[in-house]
Order: sequence, then structure tokens, then C-alpha cells
Amino acid sequence: MEPELLFDGMSFRVFRSGEPDCVTVEFTDTITAFGGIKRAEISGKGEINASIASMVAEYIGKNGVESHFIRQLDSRRILCRKVEMIRLEVVVRNIIAGSMARRLGVREGMKPENTIFDLFYKNEDLGSPLINDHYAVALGLVTYGELTRIYEYAGKINGLMSSLLKDVDIELVDFKLEFGRDGSGNIVVADELTPDNARLWDMKSMQKLDRDRFRRDMGKVGEAYRTICGRLRTVLRK
Ligand code: TMP
Repeated sequence: MEPELLFDGMSFRVFRSGEPDCVTVEFTDTITAFGGIKRAEISGKGEINASIASMVAEYIGKNGVESHFIRQLDSRRILCRKVEMIRLEVVVRNIIAGSMARRLGVREGMKPENTIFDLFYKNEDLGSPLINDHYAVALGLVTYGELTRIYEYAGKINGLMSSLLKDVDIELVDFKLEFGRDGSGNIVVADELTPDNARLWDMKSMQKLDRDRFRRDMGKVGEAYRTICGRLRTVLRK
């Protein structure tokens, strides 16, 4: 019998798992941009992302960040704890790029002194607007206490991954994370860090090694994802 599909995120699919209180996340070769308007298949991307997601989740788990990840099942699938998803996207920015550069008329590549945390309300009918802490609490999405934990985890992942990636000459420009609540109501990271939801620039050549290559028709998307996976392997799977 086919496992029940719970959610189709196009670049990943979530299935009910045979294990209690678990889901299976399958990474696909599909890549999308602009809310799914632009779409293509990148051969092997699913396997690359499953590998990157697993290495990163194991690393941040060892360093005290609770995530939904349990283990990698096969080349494309990971087993995760089933959590109640919070309808927020948390974006951490170390360098100004993408929507922030456009919104504020700031040059892409500008490096501020501080780290920036954005909240987006996950609501496709509204185009997932940028909100703030108070909106998120007013909408009943989270409590202020939960937001404190969310920012703590997001900041910790940013510190861990920025320094790890720096060791392999990659700048962590920005990334998006989502969070959930486990059965006891604890906040857990319920997302994967991959080149689909992060901006990753080669520190020497300044080449983009992430989904922006697809968004901006730059080509060599699969090669970029493979580069990230290969360099992470040198520091995470010796
Ligand atoms: P942005 O510049 O479009 O706001 O995106 C910031 C980072 O977050 C970038 O690495 C892409 C990622 N992101 C997603 O993966 N999905 C999303 O829905 C959003 C808003 C951002």
C-alpha cells in the first residue's frame, strides 16, 4: 500500500510513516521559484538535499538544537517526528540580499554589523507577508515565550552553520527556517537547511551556490548543490 501523502511542498513531500508519531520527508528533484510559478527538475537534487539535510540536522542536534529529524532512511528520505507546524517562516540574514535588498533599496552584498531576523506569516492567500513579533502573537501563532526560544534556536543554528561553512569557504548569507511543537508543546526546528532555502556564496569567487541560480537563470544549479554537499562532507562526514 502507498503511504498516505500528508503535504506536497513540491521540493519535498511529507508522508505518514509506519512508525508512530513520525512522518517521512522525501526530497524531490523539483525546484521552484516565485511561489511555484517557475518550476523545473534538477536531476539528483533530492538525494543531494537529503544528504545535506541529514548532515546538518545531526550536527545541530549534537550541539543542543532540538529538531524534528530522527534519521536518514534512504538516499531521498528522512524520518522525522510529527509536530504541530507553526505558520511562520523565520529568515535569518547575515548579508543583505533578496527581498530585503529589494524592499529597502539596499545593495545586495551589504554586510551589517548585526544579524537580522525576519518573520513571515505563512499564508499563501496573502502572499506570506512580512510581520513582526507582536503580529505573530496577536494572530495567535505563538507566544512571546515561544518566540524567545525560536530566536534562540535560529541564532544558534546561524552561529554553528556560519562558522562551519566558513571553514569550507562558504558564506551563509541568509536562510529560512520553520518551527513546530512536539507532543509536549516544546518548540522544535521542523525544517531542513539546504541550498533550496538558504543563500550560500563561495567566499573566494563570490559565486552563488543555491536556489538563486535557478531563480535568476544562472545555470549550473545541480553543480552548485553538489559543491555544497561535497564541501560539507569534508567537515561533517570524515
Ligand atoms: P528572501 O530574500 O526571498 O526573503 O529569502 C531569504 C532566504 O530565505 C533565502 O535564502 C530564501 C529563503 N526563503 C525560503 O526558502 N522560502 C521562503 O518562502 C522565503 C520567504 C524565504
